[in-house]
Amino acid sequence: MIPHLLSIRELSQGDVLDILGRASKLKREGAQCTALAGKVVVKLFYEPSTRTSCSFEVAAAGLGAHVLNWNIASSSSVKGETLLDTARNLAAMGVFAFVIRHPNAGAPALVAKHIGCAVVNAGDGRHEHPSQALLDAFTLLEKWGDMRGRRVLIVGDVLHSRVARSNLYCLQLLGAKVRFCGPPTLVPKAFEAFGAEVCFDLDEALKEVDAVMVLRLQKERQQEALIPSAQEYQRRWGMDLRRMSQLKEGTFLMHPGPVNRGLELASEVMEGPFNLILEQVANGVVVRQAILESLQ
Ligand code: CP
Repeated sequence: MIPHLLSIRELSQGDVLDILGRASKLKREGAQCTALAGKVVVKLFYEPSTRTSCSFEVAAAGLGAHVLNWNIASSSSVKGETLLDTARNLAAMGVFAFVIRHPNAGAPALVAKHIGCAVVNAGDGRHEHPSQALLDAFTLLEKWGDMRGRRVLIVGDVLHSRVARSNLYCLQLLGAKVRFCGPPTLVPKAFEAFGAEVCFDLDEALKEVDAVMVLRLQKERQQEALIPSAQEYQRRWGMDLRRMSQLKEGTFLMHPGPVNRGLELASEVMEGPFNLILEQVANGVVVRQAILESLQ
């Protein structure tokens, strides 16, 4: 059991295995629709989301919780109410857990520190997206059984990616090796100090990997020109059929979504046999149920 899910870095290997084990059981046996009966789960999303938001909603509803869909545009935050005041006021109504997405790193941790409810980080700035990493690990473990000895290549906009950070910690915690590849402006060499391999040539990086996780190019977080052009990015770091053909048989393709089709991923590769993208989304529901169940 955990009090909050704020980052993968704060979890032990035992915590991760416990959540993934619960998710396996939920997938096999189905959810107990009374597990969170009478409890209120509030989604506080200060950034857009399709998968994470809807998946937490389906997960919480499947456990019998009442889900409150707070909407930023129609809320008092447009009148200037702070995140903490919003959370304090909602907590006063009797909330079991907040699921928070926010553009600022550390925002969910701030709420967890000051409010007496469980908090789940649904993505905070460039910091972490722990539920995404857990569902990615779950999806790979379903295929491999064991992460030890596997190498996962994470391609693209690592600099702005909370998915990349959470996956680095989660995959390493479970025994996999992580390699990053992308433009030098978007893949900090500093990640070598965290045990990751860093390279900038995608054709080289594809050698001897067991899964390729392609990241979305986060145009909304780029204040300056960090890539020469979209066309050049696609040519040098986009996954297309030619690059897929360089992979050894059975190498899985993943993407957290949403996909910039034709930029980091060519449309044709999204139809391939080793593409796990929709399996990641499907597994997101049981993994998020396991997360909600794990909260003390
Ligand atoms: N993977 C992910 O976080 O997708 P959304 O932004 O749609 O939630």
